[in-house]
Amino acid sequence: MVARPFVLVALFFTLVAAAPPLRTLPLTKRIDHSKVKNIVKSDQARAKGLKNVNKGDGEREPVNAFANGIAYVVNVAVGSPAATYSLIVDTGSSNTWIGADKSYQASNTSFPLDEFVSVSYGSGFFEGTAYADQVALSSDLVADYQIIAVADFSFGFEGYDGILGLGPTILTNGTVSDFELVDTVVDTLYYDGRIKARVLGAAFAPLNANGGVGSLAFGAPDPSHYTGLLSYTNVTKAYPSSLYFGIDVRFDYGPRTLGYGSGIVDIGTTLILLASDIFEFYANSTGGVYDYYVGLLRLDEEQYNKLQPLNLRINGATYELTANAQILPRTLNVDVGGDPDAYYLIIADLGYPSGFGFDFILGQSFLERFYSVYDSGQNYDNTDSRVGFAQTKYSFSEVN
Ligand SMILES: *[C@@H]1O[C@H](CO)[C@@H](O)[C@H](O)[C@H]1NC(C)=O
Ligand SMILES: *[C@@H]1O[C@H](CO)[C@@H](O)[C@H](O)[C@H]1NC(C)=O
Ligand SMILES: *[C@@H]1O[C@H](CO)[C@@H](O)[C@H](O)[C@H]1NC(C)=O
Ligand SMILES: *[C@@H]1O[C@H](CO)[C@@H](O)[C@H](O)[C@H]1NC(C)=O
Repeated sequence: MVARPFVLVALFFTLVAAAPPLRTLPLTKRIDHSKVKNIVKSDQARAKGLKNVNKGDGEREPVNAFANGIAYVVNVAVGSPAATYSLIVDTGSSNTWIGADKSYQASNTSFPLDEFVSVSYGSGFFEGTAYADQVALSSDLVADYQIIAVADFSFGFEGYDGILGLGPTILTNGTVSDFELVDTVVDTLYYDGRIKARVLGAAFAPLNANGGVGSLAFGAPDPSHYTGLLSYTNVTKAYPSSLYFGIDVRFDYGPRTLGYGSGIVDIGTTLILLASDIFEFYANSTGGVYDYYVGLLRLDEEQYNKLQPLNLRINGATYELTANAQILPRTLNVDVGGDPDAYYLIIADLGYPSGFGFDFILGQSFLERFYSVYDSGQNYDNTDSRVGFAQTKYSFSEVN
């Protein structure tokens, strides 16, 4: 009894002393202007693929390869001597793989595992072989024995070398033959003692506010990238969002509630997608007219000036998307096939109605306004994972 407070104090100091320096990684937003016209189709195909969850058993939805024109990418060094690959950063999938564009160069850290790997993303697909190799995100973030896949065949990823899969471990289930689950890069960094927790923090900014640079923090959120309180919400129980960084949200447009749902937070999706019924209500409320050619709602200047905040209520906290946060960066209007002077809303139709446990995706358009944290907890089945959000200096920015 007497010793207890003393032990706690000692433990406290040990933790403080042992806190590792923050490990961050710069990300770059890559825009392929010739493919930006696909963003809605690509996001919708991805939504369908994620909703149906990779089965890894050869049975999969037909894939519409509408390559996404906008992605956050990071350069990753694989092997020793290392070769560098430009990978799409994704929290909606968990396998890390290379070989889409640049071929894998086996080195003396390369260990073939002779296992078949396949993952379907809805907007793309790959199959290949598993290897263990050293994966270095930076000199501090080295996963020494990381299971990766090397694609024999892929499509939907032209211009990229593959994916850095930062989603929950459970999403690897069934993707690698003879394995139930495979450690993600985050898991390996944690096991190797490079990071203290299976936590990622992601900072992005509107395209025209900072030129499309992002920052990923490993092991803990990076306080230099957010302001105010960081609020967490447990991962939703609603399947299949429960397999992802899935959350429950109420969507309010001005004073009216558009709907409730369970959906996911996803760095690999460009826009904010809402289930068709919720989207219809939003469309009606804004007065936006669906532009069939572009795939987005279009407003004139008068409607834009009357646009009300879209508030996301998440576990008691409110995240406000201002009018400016609800529109496509106007510098992309022509790329999407639109009128340079119109206003296009970045809240788009998910492509199917609510009620399937996958009612929305909060993609980059949301994450560029709020700091996000992906905490995988202790369990490998995603049951104690949580997602955090905080405001940033860009939340109310009038530049997008
Ligand atoms: C790894 O391979 C390189 C040549 O590619 C060689 O120079 C180096 O000595 C090798 N290292 C080890 C530890 O075998
Ligand atoms: C992986 O998927 C299989 C088949 O659907 C299932 O039986 C198993 O429980 C899953 N594993 C985990 C850890 O959820
Ligand atoms: C949208 O508005 C039209 C006309 O104002 C109305 O008939 C329709 O019921 C509305 N739909 C929804 C989903 O609110
Ligand atoms: C979130 O999950 C934790 C356990 O992982 C639990 O203690 C807590 O009550 C949950 N919070 C809510 C609001 O459900």
